[in-house]
Formats: sequence, structure tokens, C-alpha cells
Amino acid sequence: MEAKNKRLKIGVFGGARGYTMIQVLFSHDKADLVAVCDKYEPLLDKVKEKAKELGTEVACYNNFEDFLNHPELDAVVLANYATEHVPFAIRCMKAGKHVLSEVLPCETMAEAVELIEAVEETGMVYAYAENYCYMQHSFEMWQRYQSGEMGEAHYGEGEYIHDCSSIWPRCTYGDRNHWRNRLYATFYCTHSLGPLIAMTGLRPKSVVGFETNPIKGGLLAKGTAGLAGIEMVTMENGAVFKSIHGGLKREPGSINYQLYCDKGVMESGRHFSRHPERSVGNCLYVYKEGEELCKGDWEKYDPDCQIARDGRLKSGIESHAGSDFYPTHCFIEKILGGEDGKWSIDVYQAVDMGICGILAWRSVLNGNTPMAVPNLRNQEERDAWRNDRACTTPEKAGDELLPISSHEELLVDPGDEVYEEIRRLWLAGEKQK
Ligand SMILES: NC(=O)c1ccc[n+]([C@@H]2O[C@H](COP(=O)([O-])OP(=O)(O)OC[C@H]3O[C@@H](n4cnc5c(N)ncnc54)[C@H](O)[C@@H]3O)[C@@H](O)[C@H]2O)c1
Repeated sequence: MEAKNKRLKIGVFGGARGYTMIQVLFSHDKADLVAVCDKYEPLLDKVKEKAKELGTEVACYNNFEDFLNHPELDAVVLANYATEHVPFAIRCMKAGKHVLSEVLPCETMAEAVELIEAVEETGMVYAYAENYCYMQHSFEMWQRYQSGEMGEAHYGEGEYIHDCSSIWPRCTYGDRNHWRNRLYATFYCTHSLGPLIAMTGLRPKSVVGFETNPIKGGLLAKGTAGLAGIEMVTMENGAVFKSIHGGLKREPGSINYQLYCDKGVMESGRHFSRHPERSVGNCLYVYKEGEELCKGDWEKYDPDCQIARDGRLKSGIESHAGSDFYPTHCFIEKILGGEDGKWSIDVYQAVDMGICGILAWRSVLNGNTPMAVPNLRNQEERDAWRNDRACTTPEKAGDELLPISSHEELLVDPGDEVYEEIRRLWLAGEKQK
């Protein structure tokens, strides 16, 4: 652990989504942003401009080697491609840097094992930036569940519906090999499942996966399958969680959670939105049974959430329903041994969240058969998965390459012209900035 009163020097790898962490670090009272790396120079220019405005300096690199060699770097935020977190996390930890990883934690079962073993071997802090655990409603549910007032969980639902079809040019820049174009339905599962795991602290034991049917004129026309995925997860105590995520048609998108427990239920408003100005109604409802069976009271409220009640931590970062400050803040606290470090998500829980989606895909491809979820905390459970590289990235999977959809009609190459058109739209958007 670092000295409690030390100011940490942190670098951010990936300046697109990473700009959120960059903003948090610009205003944090226990850390400084010292370096940023991105190969896309306009993102570095944006950081330089902001640093100048704030009267500070940030070293900008367009390659990872030089970035990692930046002097006195204590920790790295990985906001690079979602399927490339593990190799970079391992390189950072082996170089003595703590790591905060964006979603997803790993792309393969082999990477899940490698990641855990690298954390154990190096002793560095690894934290998972699943910000959906820290939203106004989900973080309040997490804190209330952990207080014990709701009793034990029996059934939960997590929903992350986000139709990205209109922003696909900005998301993939017309690159046919962009990780988002190879996403299969159950991969991006931790926004919906992760908060249920964080809230309850329960470990998944088995998973059944589902892929919805193709949306006509949907993302396929934009060069990817883009269907919704569902994981039905049985937890170690027998509770069952349903997780659904993907690009179903609905605006604004929906992020909500329900958790039924011994003493009642906590459920967020179904019209809750990532954008506070678009949310409709109260965002948390809590029912608790009283002394008499089947009689109880409802509370309805907008939690102002958080561990920042005293205003000490108000950073002005309110995006993603107030959540975007917390992964970085709790990571810093964890490294420094501060109180809020207890809310940081460790590597075991991160992997629990992520491998449910990986194994759910095997379930889908095997006709929705249940898959046991290994407990990779146990060394003896690791060997069965150590060499399992099955995924949809050809360079990684080799002869274990998986299809991006279970629907054959979606496996047809949409053709170069589709990607060229997406690139044209992206470039037109960039010019307008
Ligand atoms: N938690 C959330 O709410 C949320 C939202 C959006 C994205 N994300 C996650 O953030 C990550 C990044 O996503 P994104 O939306 O920024 O899109 P992205 O994955 O397209 O962007 C990654 C960025 O990293 C840079 N990069 C990648 N590899 C590099 C390398 N080897 N050298 C230099 N630069 C490199 C790219 O140039 C790009 O700017 C993903 O893991 C994604 O899942 C999370």
C-alpha cells in the first residue's frame, strides 16, 4: 500500500471514454493526471488544451511503450479497446503500476486466469471500472443491501438497453475489425449483471445464455450483428439473476435493476435514464414487509446517493447518473488505504461479472445449455480454463474462433461499402467538431 498522504501520479491509456477519467483526475484531491496515451492525435490535442486552460501539464504519448516509461507513474487507467485490457493490464502490473480497467475485464477464459494470476503475483491493486454499480439507484441499492436491512437476495434483474445504431460511426469509425463490430450478444454483460453481483457480493455458479432474433434494418446494415443478449445466472446461494442488455428499440435507453430479498424488494424506476434530464419519475422504490405477513410500506425517492454526502467529493462529474466519478475515486482510495476503497471492485468480482457473458455465449451456441461458472479464486479450478482462448477475435482465437451470432443470416459479410459509408459519416462528424 502507498503512503496515505501521498498524491498519486496516474496515466490514462485511451482518450475517448478515457476522457471521463481524465476529467475526474484533473479535479481529484489525492491524485494528479500526469500522462495520457492515444494513437489518435486529436484526442491528445483535446487533453493538452484542457491542461493549458487549467494551468497544468500533462505528458501526451501516441504509443504505449513511451507512456509506460513515463517517470514516476504510480497507476494506469485502461480505457483502450474492450477486448485488449488483459495484455495491457498485465504489462502495467509487471512494471509496478496499479491498474483500473474499463469494461470488459477479459475477452477469454484464458485471459481471466492470466489476469487473476498477474494480480496475485505482482501484488498490485487491480480495480474494475464498472461505473453502472455506482449510479444513483444502483449504488443506493448496493449500500442498502450491504447494511443487511433487506435480508438475503432471491431474484434480481438488471437491464441495460442502449440502441447505438445512430452513433455507430462515432463508435467504430468504419473499421471493420473494431471490437464493437465483433461483439456477440452476451459479451457486454457487466452493465446489467455487474451491479447485482456488486450489491449482493454473491458469486455466480451457473449461467444460461440467450440471443434475441435479428432486428430488421438494425445494426446488421451497419456491419455488425448487434443483437440483445440475456444471461440467466444462478448464484451461490440459489438466487437467480436475469441480465439483459443490447440495442433494443427504446429512447431514451433504459438502465434499471430489481432485487427481491427476504424482507422486500428494491426496484428502480423503469424509465430511469442515463441522462437525468430525461428520466421520468422517482428512480428508486423500496418495499419492506412489516410485522404482519404481506403488509408493508413503500418508499419512493431519488437517492442523492453516494459516499459524498458531505460534499467533500463533489467533482462536477455527473455523467452516467452520477456514477462516473466513483470507479476512479474508489481505486485511488484503495491504493492509499482510504475508507472509500472498500467500494472498489476487485479482480475476482470483475472476472465473475465478465465470464458470465463469455460462458453464456457457449450456452447460446450449444442450444441454451447451462454452463457451470468456475470460481477462479480457487487455483485448482483454473487449469481447465487456462488455455481456453475461444472468442470472436480471429488473431486471439486461432482455431477456436466463435461466430458473432447464432443466426446464420447474420454471418454474411456486409461488404466493404458498408464500412466505407460508416467511415465517411464518421469523418463528416469529426470535421464538424
Ligand atoms: N463504462 C462505460 O460507461 C463505458 C462507456 C463507453 C466505453 N467504455 C469502455 O471504454 C473502452 C474504450 O471505449 P471507447 O468508447 O473509448 O472506444 P474505443 O474502444 O474505440 O477507443 C479506444 C481508444 O483507445 C485508443 N487505443 C487503443 N489501442 C491503442 C494503442 N495500442 N495505442 C494507442 N492508443 C490506443 C484508440 O485510439 C481509441 O481512442 C472500452 O473498453 C469500452 O468498453 C465504457
